[in-house]
Amino acid sequence: MGSHPSREIDIHDLKVRFGKFWALKGVSFYAHKREFLGIIGASGAGKTTVLRVLTGQVRPTSGEAFVGGHDVTKDHKLISLLVGYVPQIEHLSLYFDFSALQNAQFFGRNFGMRPREIEERARNILMILGFDEDLMTKRVSRLSGGERKRVSICLGLIHDPLILLLDEPTTGLDAHLRHETLNYLKELNFELGTTMVIISHDLEIVDYCSRVVLLEHGLVSQFGTPQDLISSLPGHGESLRLELPTFNTAIEERIHQIPGVKYVASAGRNTVKLFLDNPRKNMLPVIRHLNSMKMPFEELSIVEADFFDYFQVKPWKTDIKSGVELT
Ligand SMILES: Nc1ncnc2c1ncn2[C@@H]1O[C@H](COP(=O)(O)OP(=O)(O)O)[C@@H](O)[C@H]1O
Ligand SMILES: [Mg+2]
Repeated sequence: MGSHPSREIDIHDLKVRFGKFWALKGVSFYAHKREFLGIIGASGAGKTTVLRVLTGQVRPTSGEAFVGGHDVTKDHKLISLLVGYVPQIEHLSLYFDFSALQNAQFFGRNFGMRPREIEERARNILMILGFDEDLMTKRVSRLSGGERKRVSICLGLIHDPLILLLDEPTTGLDAHLRHETLNYLKELNFELGTTMVIISHDLEIVDYCSRVVLLEHGLVSQFGTPQDLISSLPGHGESLRLELPTFNTAIEERIHQIPGVKYVASAGRNTVKLFLDNPRKNMLPVIRHLNSMKMPFEELSIVEADFFDYFQVKPWKTDIKSGVELT
């Protein structure tokens, strides 16, 4: 099997074993040029391992991975030119005593770039990243966490790779900085045409992604556009919102028993979303059933299902802290 010609990233049945432990058990997904792909999964799911295969740092035990049509195991030098990598801990790649532009010089040299070329490229990227002259020339040690993250993104892009891989670029940042970082990445994706692959354990990146891979214990549990994933739920993107005067586990138990109801997601105080096939057609039967159970309700309406519902109803542990995090 080879790579599909229109795919910038193409992975077939990738397996990676560390000793006796299978970190990846048969992972397949792809991304077209200019896509913004999110790889989402809990800690230990195998996300970093996938990226390390794509950079050529980890050799697959079996299966195939291609970037820009090239087998990642074949020509290491070529792969490092095609792929840029922003590690999870940016401290590992930055010289704190030097400025962003000076860091770019060190980094770009590894790719055989000329100083002038590096300077131009770095300025262009840093400008998109919102850096002015002062920020570009200040020592990294004096920059904020969000600014350092942006410098490391610039370094990953310095040699104009086809693909930029980012390992948890938003982890550890506050909500404002997480969205700011994602917006900058979207802008780079648009301006430079770089295909982006972003790892996260946080669902909020989904809204930015053109396609999403959900990894669970070394396997892809879902792959598709955000809309595809929502459409795979019963109701195909619609659900019934049920608001009750009170709510408790006994009531929840009874709601689960309404004929046709496949999942129940919490939707705020005393409110749930019911997932069932054809909610429009089944609305009336649900009302009749609630009446026959003598269960009073404030409101029953058809609403759109969103990604947060998706994760509640899918068999996946969710934990509501800063947004919804997978545990
Ligand atoms: N070099 C390695 N040797 C042994 N086990 C590893 C190695 N790298 C990763 N693992 C294990 O593989 C699993 C997946 O790791 P990783 O890809 O880092 O997960 P994630 O990035 O999703 O948190 C984890 O259980 C991890 O401990
Ligand atoms: Mg990781």
